[in-house]
Amino acid sequence: MEKTTQLYEGKAKKVFATEDPNLVIVSYKDDATAFDGAKKGTIEGKGSINNRMTNYLMQMLEKEGVPTHFVEELNDRETVVKKVSIVPLEVIIRNVSAGHFASRYGVEEGIVFDQPVLEFSYKNDDLHDPLLNTSHALALKLATKEEIDRIKELSFKVNDILKAFFLSIGIDLIDFKLEFGKTADGTIVLADEISPDTCRYWDSKTHEKLDKDRFRRDLGGVEDAYQEVMRRLMGK
Ligand code: TMP
Repeated sequence: MEKTTQLYEGKAKKVFATEDPNLVIVSYKDDATAFDGAKKGTIEGKGSINNRMTNYLMQMLEKEGVPTHFVEELNDRETVVKKVSIVPLEVIIRNVSAGHFASRYGVEEGIVFDQPVLEFSYKNDDLHDPLLNTSHALALKLATKEEIDRIKELSFKVNDILKAFFLSIGIDLIDFKLEFGKTADGTIVLADEISPDTCRYWDSKTHEKLDKDRFRRDLGGVEDAYQEVMRRLMGK
């Protein structure tokens, strides 16, 4: 499978067309941004880690019955995925208070919720991805009621699977962001990535942060944290 023309360049990935109109190739970059691109940097080796971690987790989810866009890993940074139209809703699942949940509602980080929290935000950089609920999403025609129900069901299922998996490698899955896409036949599939860029991982014992918060908050040891999660994952 060969790349043809570049279709899109985002903050962390590029997407290329292929000879097959139903398939595209994603190429993961080492570039890192935070706060809507206001903070910029590089995380050495991130592209390869995020590519391989995403593919490992997506294959695990597929086996458990979650449809994903994953097709084939080409090399360290590049993967063939199904061409989808991305539903412009970012789904955030939270198991423990952190980040914007803590700041928005004025609570400390680290409160363990009795049930996972599901949030939607409108995927729109110009508007800074505003928080919205199902009625807002329907009013804006971002998806149909059936699609939103399916996205919620799959998101909670992904949480159950990933939470248990990360616990088995000594990591508490605090929260994460998912994106879904629609294939040509209208099937909703999990798309984008699942990586330290899009999840909060805290070491179960020490509560040390093993994710992009080390970059966002200038905590140092960013590369080491990404490598540590990958090392534990590969040790499975
Ligand atoms: P938040 O607490 O900043 O809302 O982030 C919740 C989760 O979503 C966290 O695991 C990081 C992830 N996330 C992204 O993947 N992309 C984003 O643009 C933001 C703001 C958060």
